[in-house]
Amino acid sequence: MVQTRKQAREATPVPSASADATPSKQTPPPSAKKPKVSKAKLIEEEDRVTFGVLDLLRVLIGMALFSCTLSYFIIGDSYIWGQEKVARRYWNAIRKTLTTPIYMDEATLALYNGTDPALPIYLSINGTIYDVSAGRSKYGPGGGYSFFAGRDASRAYITGDFKNDLTWDVSGIDEERVQQSLGHWAKFFANHDTYTFVGYLVKTPKANPVEEDKASPPEPEPEHMPDEL
Ligand code: HEM
Repeated sequence: MVQTRKQAREATPVPSASADATPSKQTPPPSAKKPKVSKAKLIEEEDRVTFGVLDLLRVLIGMALFSCTLSYFIIGDSYIWGQEKVARRYWNAIRKTLTTPIYMDEATLALYNGTDPALPIYLSINGTIYDVSAGRSKYGPGGGYSFFAGRDASRAYITGDFKNDLTWDVSGIDEERVQQSLGHWAKFFANHDTYTFVGYLVKTPKANPVEEDKASPPEPEPEHMPDEL
């Protein structure tokens, strides 16, 4: 039987005030009056599809996991499509940003040359100090590249002269060569997977002078001044 709204309303028992003198438990106190919300609004709110931040995170994690699995099956030994080098570069850059740099002078840096086994091994390249303790076999005492430890030998990274050029002073070397060779090794340390950024070298001017013959020769004096011509 179809009931009209009016009939339904009439069929619903209405609690009478005389039936129970004590206030009903279900009747809210007048102070706790609920704000009236229209039925249409309630239905609309129920039907609304909510897509929160958490859902977005779930989708992204799901996609990342799917991509890793696919990469592993297609590439073989990589979860990130063979982009480990790029990832390492970004990861090291983030780590560097989060690290509070230590500023060290040359005398202090020299203490970290690997001779004290209690200390880490540091080297500096182009004024940036790295912890290369993971390469102790190369940079520690007796290692093939121990002369790089505890100092900034930027010049030697360019010239390959590991005897006379163990200095940060690169003056007199062609700018392009400096950019290429030093840039190569600077990137090597910055992007290395086990060497970590420490801080910066506070260079002592003239503490590490380049011999006269290595410095750029002074500009020859012009024989005739332009106004003499
Ligand atoms: C400008 C010249 C050169 C510079 C600046 C240089 C620099 C370096 C550095 C910094 C490392 C250590 C890499 C690390 O920490 O893993 C290294 C490793 C090595 N270099 Fe050189 N190098 C030069 C020339 C040479 C030459 C000419 C040879 C070959 C005769 C050579 C052979 C090696 C070898 C075999 C290693 C690996 C050592 C190991 O893993 O134990 N390098 N080089």
